[in-house]
Amino acid sequence: MFDKVKNLAEEIKKFRAQSQEELEQYRLKFISKKGELSSIMGELKNVPNEKKREAGQQLNELKQLAKEKFQELINYIDQADSSSSTQTAGIDLTLPPSSFELGSMHPITAVRNEIISIFEKIGFNVSDGPEIEDDWHNFSALNFPPNHPAREMQDTFFIEKNPDIALRTHTSSVQVRVMEKQQPPIRTLSPGRVFRNEAISARSHCIFHQVEGLYVDKNVSFLDLKQTLYHFAKEMFGKNTKVRYRPSYFPFTEPSAEIDISCFICNGDGCNICKHSGWVEIAGSGMVDPNVLSNCGIDPEEYTGFAFGMGIERIAMLKFQITDIRLFTENDVRFLSQFRRINH
Ligand code: DAH
Repeated sequence: MFDKVKNLAEEIKKFRAQSQEELEQYRLKFISKKGELSSIMGELKNVPNEKKREAGQQLNELKQLAKEKFQELINYIDQADSSSSTQTAGIDLTLPPSSFELGSMHPITAVRNEIISIFEKIGFNVSDGPEIEDDWHNFSALNFPPNHPAREMQDTFFIEKNPDIALRTHTSSVQVRVMEKQQPPIRTLSPGRVFRNEAISARSHCIFHQVEGLYVDKNVSFLDLKQTLYHFAKEMFGKNTKVRYRPSYFPFTEPSAEIDISCFICNGDGCNICKHSGWVEIAGSGMVDPNVLSNCGIDPEEYTGFAFGMGIERIAMLKFQITDIRLFTENDVRFLSQFRRINH
């Protein structure tokens, strides 16, 4: 009996359990009602009286050992279970969460919105037209005569087999669409995508954006054009911006002028951006040619108007000092994320 107690104690000490099943095996083998502990207890009655006391003591110690071992195995398996479940999921729940990146508005969208909001405050609405245009709206109604060299000012993407259809080369086509539908007073702004068959380089792209402006009413004068664009330049580029008008030519305006602003980088002293001239060009403009008004069903004897057109990429490049137009379409997050702080 004493040897048996000793052996059983050794066996209990050595027992290892790695799973719930092995823990159950321990319980069944040693401490359940039919386990070895109960059966050895049953043998106490066979021990001679003078040894009973000693045997009882040893059996109590064995019982205590078996109980403690059982608790130890339970603790061990609980711990193994909880650490293995987080390992399987591959998650360390104690780590702080990683922050997620907010997107940013594309600089072209931001500049377009800013231009719109400046003109909306002085009574302009926004109008839209198709990117696939016919010859009438892109050229003829705008006073480009057939085969006139002025058509070559803009390299056009024509639709094969139908020379009447082209991708619009400018948003001036929307002027025509608005005037055909609406009698003056008209004050409208038309932002949109335009297409030109040009080689892509740091300075030019075959797809870019323009904003067209049109104001037609009784007694609209060149002074209104000057004042309107002066207001725009100051709002867009700062209070101290100066504006100058250079005579130019467009088939749809007479007289025509190109609009320059004083370089806001060097304040007119001369730098790389203004090519050391102190001025940068921002738009084409002029008084709507009377032929264009009558082409669109507006009486040029009664109404006059001014129009202007500017490239959004160009304005954005000046404003943010971007030196390569291709960056706008390359979707490089390192470029785009720099505009996160612009709220428009
Ligand atoms: N459509 C011209 C271009 O794409 C820009 C322009 C010039 C628009 C003069 C106008 C204007 O409305 O009056 O180069």
